[in-house]
Amino acid sequence: MLLYLAMVERTPTGIPGLDEMIGGGIPRGHTVLISGGPGTGKSTFAMQFLYNGAVKYNEPGVYISLEEKPEDFVKNFSKYGWDLSRVDIISIVPTKFVTSANLRKGRFTFKTEKGFREGEFSMDFLREMITDKVEKIKAKRVVLDSISALALHLENRFMLRQEILSTALLLGDLGATSMITTETPEGQIGLSRFGIEEFVSQGVIGLYNIKLGSKRVRGLEILKMRGTKHSQNICLMSMTDEGIAVYPKENLYSEKL
Ligand SMILES: Nc1ncnc2c1ncn2[C@@H]1O[C@H](COP(=O)(O)OP(=O)(O)OP(=O)(O)O)[C@@H](O)[C@H]1O
Ligand SMILES: [Mg+2]
Repeated sequence: MLLYLAMVERTPTGIPGLDEMIGGGIPRGHTVLISGGPGTGKSTFAMQFLYNGAVKYNEPGVYISLEEKPEDFVKNFSKYGWDLSRVDIISIVPTKFVTSANLRKGRFTFKTEKGFREGEFSMDFLREMITDKVEKIKAKRVVLDSISALALHLENRFMLRQEILSTALLLGDLGATSMITTETPEGQIGLSRFGIEEFVSQGVIGLYNIKLGSKRVRGLEILKMRGTKHSQNICLMSMTDEGIAVYPKENLYSEKL
């Protein structure tokens, strides 16, 4: 067992404080779910992982956003001073807000390196785009933000679970180390919205923004990380103009009111 742990190849996240909580990095090729309520820092966390990959570890990465338009991206992340041209971004967002229960045939705008395109969304199309891009740039890191947005495209829960499963399997097959974000209802501690994401990913990281007295405090915990020992501490996390930092030895709940 010890020998196995020593042999595990790692993908360091480069997020200050995090890698030491997981034995040096995410086991290579694994998919980790980043789970948290609104505004807990999921997208920033995932982008920081990709950006660090590109600039610190020479590992190309691709960010697939199902939530934000590329121009919003640039605006949101520019405050951290990150040069986003180092990361490949695919953005697939609704062209207009559609309220029908069946959004499978909704019109979507796709931002690819060839510019904008409009078309119908399908999960096969999404998976094809991911595969092409990963193979083309030999991506070592992939982010899918967010799996919750897939609910927009799928008719029912059964379908959604099937599609989440096949997307996670695809990420596993591609061999890159991946992060999938998922939004949990505010205040909920841990895990997922659809009750399947945590089973199809090898790791789960929970991000929190909890109310302590009259202030809010950010926290992070490693809920699961297969193939490695990991910290059990629910620790403090900060978001500043430099991005996210984690404080492995500082417990979220021992924070003074
Ligand atoms: N410079 C900063 N200093 C402190 N907090 C910041 C800073 N920049 C952003 N934030 C916080 O980060 C939040 C946005 O982070 P991010 O978009 O990564 O979260 P998210 O969990 O992906 O949100 P969403 O639920 O909208 O997808 C903001 O709502 C804000 O609270
Ligand atoms: Mg987000």
